[in-house]
Amino acid sequence: MEGFNFPETFSRPALFDFEGVSMINFFTDNWENIQNFKARPDDILVATYPKAGTTWVSYILDLLYFGNTAPERQTDLPIYMRVPFLEAVIPGLPSGVELADSLCTTPRLIKTHLPVQLVPKSFWEQNCRVIYVARNAKDNAVSYFHFDRMNMGQPDPVDWSTDLQKFKDGKKVFGPWYDHVCGYWEKKQTYSNIHYMFFEDMVEDTGREVEQLCSFLGLSTPTEERDRITKGVHFDAMKQNNMINYSTVPLMDFKISPFMRKGKVGDWKNHFTVAQNEQFDELYKQKMKNTSLQFRTEI
Ligand code: PPS
Repeated sequence: MEGFNFPETFSRPALFDFEGVSMINFFTDNWENIQNFKARPDDILVATYPKAGTTWVSYILDLLYFGNTAPERQTDLPIYMRVPFLEAVIPGLPSGVELADSLCTTPRLIKTHLPVQLVPKSFWEQNCRVIYVARNAKDNAVSYFHFDRMNMGQPDPVDWSTDLQKFKDGKKVFGPWYDHVCGYWEKKQTYSNIHYMFFEDMVEDTGREVEQLCSFLGLSTPTEERDRITKGVHFDAMKQNNMINYSTVPLMDFKISPFMRKGKVGDWKNHFTVAQNEQFDELYKQKMKNTSLQFRTEI
């Protein structure tokens, strides 16, 4: 791909503890620049735990803001160039900070998987709008497992049972799912510019979620256009779209698993054994006992 200068030899990164969160060097190497990132008041931050619907919401935002004014983006720019991944330093690409700094759009759409306590403080100081997408833990764990199988830029998941244990232990990249989803949920209580969305709601009724997003953003996008966008961001359309489906990223081996894999609620049932499910539920109850946050594992 143009601009992607991938090294010939490459090995999967090791996991280490970074400020109490499991991380890999691709997300910490540029730490000073990340922490000093200068957000602007109109920046929009798309924040998620990995595999919760980042690309889906990023694409919706891109279409809402630039679908009409800059249609060439749809054919010329992969989604990861339109919506830079702030903390990423991926071999062969400019860093996320460099990409974000060089965006000439207003607003700038920026993606992060950082847990709330590690988000650069300028986003809060500038009162930026934050769109958080959360996905139920079981489907999130399954999606993350398949992603790590196919993405050589992630630690090796080994096998499903090993990887599920890592997920439960908070030893996946970006740390524990529980802390991530609860951290932004708590933040929302004191910082009103967070729109907290659920992957399950998006699957259930994408049009409704696009409408609510527009309302949060203060956009008066006409109904027909919202309908067009809703159709355009359907799983099947995104899977076919090479500018959206990550097929241009050499680190990802689509022969192992595609990026746009299933897009379903409830695929966990095809992965969890009865025993794994019972143990997971038990731990989940403990970890989530102090939050009002509720998820649906089926719709
Ligand atoms: S990443 O790598 O963290 O940015 O991945 P992310 O985009 O957050 O999550 C990828 C999962 O989201 C699913 N997806 C969708 N599902 C339904 N409809 C649409 N339009 C859609 N777009 C993305 C994608 O298929 C991944 O989930 P799984 O369960 O693995 O299929």
